[in-house]
Amino acid sequence: MRRALPVAGRETVRRRTRELAARHRRQLVVCAVLQLLAAAAALVPPRLLGHLVGGLDHGLTRSEINRTTVVLGVALIAAAALTRVARFRSSVLGEQVLAELREDFVEGILDLPLGTVESAGTGDLLTRTTKDVDALSKTIRFAVPEVLVALLIMAATIVAMALVAPLATCAALITVPVVYSGTRWYLRRAPAAYLREAAAASSYNARVAETMAAGRTTEALGLGRRRVRLAEDDLAGCYATERVTLRLRCVFFPVAEFAYVLPVIASLVAGGLLTLSGHGTLGQLTAVTLYAQQLADPVDRLLSWLDELQIGATSLARLLGVREVPDDRSLSGDEPADDRVRLEDVRFSYVAGREVLSGITVDLQRGERLAVVGPSGAGKSTLGRLIAGVHPPSAGRATVGGTDLVGLPLARLRREVSLVTQEHHVFSGTLGENLRLALPTANDRELHRALACVDWAPLRDGLETALGAGGLALTPAQAQQVALARLVLADPHTLVLDEATALLDPRAARHLERSLAAVLSGRTVVAIAHRLHTAHDADRVAVVEGGRIVELGTHDELVADDSAYAALWRSWHGES
Ligand SMILES: Nc1ncnc2c1ncn2[C@@H]1O[C@H](COP(=O)(O)OP(=O)(O)O)[C@@H](O)[C@H]1O
Ligand SMILES: [Mg+2]
Repeated sequence: MRRALPVAGRETVRRRTRELAARHRRQLVVCAVLQLLAAAAALVPPRLLGHLVGGLDHGLTRSEINRTTVVLGVALIAAAALTRVARFRSSVLGEQVLAELREDFVEGILDLPLGTVESAGTGDLLTRTTKDVDALSKTIRFAVPEVLVALLIMAATIVAMALVAPLATCAALITVPVVYSGTRWYLRRAPAAYLREAAAASSYNARVAETMAAGRTTEALGLGRRRVRLAEDDLAGCYATERVTLRLRCVFFPVAEFAYVLPVIASLVAGGLLTLSGHGTLGQLTAVTLYAQQLADPVDRLLSWLDELQIGATSLARLLGVREVPDDRSLSGDEPADDRVRLEDVRFSYVAGREVLSGITVDLQRGERLAVVGPSGAGKSTLGRLIAGVHPPSAGRATVGGTDLVGLPLARLRREVSLVTQEHHVFSGTLGENLRLALPTANDRELHRALACVDWAPLRDGLETALGAGGLALTPAQAQQVALARLVLADPHTLVLDEATALLDPRAARHLERSLAAVLSGRTVVAIAHRLHTAHDADRVAVVEGGRIVELGTHDELVADDSAYAALWRSWHGES
């Protein structure tokens, strides 16, 4: 049932990379020029050394030797200084690009449809936000600049070699086809292998995260062994996929090693033969061999970072993939004509082929309280989510004032209908900040008024009290009150309360519900409840069973009938 989030295709990754390069063209050019200057400065010493060695034959004067040595020293210092500046500028650029990608990724995550997040599980997202972001940051900080620099240095070195000794340079270039075919072999296989490796890591993470989250259930049901076995299977998957990538590297790296030494040997042999046959000088031979030796460093860097570049491209594809999740909201641009929420013959399935709601029609009257009761798993929460516009119906329509709920922008929708469940998160921050999530413009007086509506017992530091990680840990009941206070601030005309007071003890719940009544009056309220007094106090009661509304009427009507509700009411009333 778990559907992994999509991964962006090659074309998308290329296009995004080009866009990023285009956006930072100026900085890229500056970095490239600085790197080229640094490379050029590093090319001076071999030439001068060749000059000195060659000069032994024609007798250089002492002052010529001194001058050459000074220039050589200056070139070395200049190369070091330019390299430093170039690296600094590249790092700054890298950090900027990385920050942009991260922001884009976070936005993508926040825009994900809830249903997608639920069916993909948190493990996949967790792996993408940790492992993939880390891999990408390594690639952008180190691999991209290193590869670009290596390419520039190689090009500049080969040009310098050709200027000194064209024939010997040609000999050194026989390395190219060897390295090219080896690299090509590797690059053809690597991306898919790394994608599989990352996917295996994701599913292992998902499994462990799930076991941790459901630790008590696991223990209670004695599932420990089973979960360990499943995790071991996942781990075996990780091992197998990592072995594949390891094998690729085992073939590729020896080719790379070969690439360092071959140019030196080739140019030395060719240059030596040319010198012996009188077609070159000892100075040329020295310079060209030193250049060939210098090539080893950029080639080494290029090849070792290519691997990292692959891993980075894979991670980028996974990060960009989050953006490819189709939105399940399609903005219609229509404005609701009034405040009435209706469901018309609504059907809904989370998974194709298994209908959770079938043929539900509800017409909410303005300001009415509709209680929804029924056995566990009947579809009450799902119904609440559809009324709150969280999911689009699979068939039929869910509308407010004639406009599809999922056709409204989220911020707009929340002013129409809000959903409160038992899950509410208290964010790290002050109490005031937590409340203002619902209404950023609220002043302190409005916040206090909202808190008063939910029976809030003031904290010592008032609105400034730090909550969440590192701050005051709220009890579940207090967290629920904060959630309800947010609702008061959001001020929607229709509310869905899904067992919203279930975490409070019955007396406190009743008390809170009474004070909430003041807030709720005038609003339309759908209260999903397991305590039947909520149903007793409501205007109408809907009994949901097996994804259908099987009974709908006032409490008195239903109790008078020989209905399922009447039976439920009698047994509940008898107990309490
Ligand atoms: N996110 C989900 N993905 C797949 N099935 C779900 C999901 N949430 C609920 N269900 C299934 O839908 C049915 C109705 O669930 P729910 O609406 O939570 O019922 P209730 O609130 O009445 O207990 C159940 O069979 C449940 O297993
Ligand atoms: Mg429920």
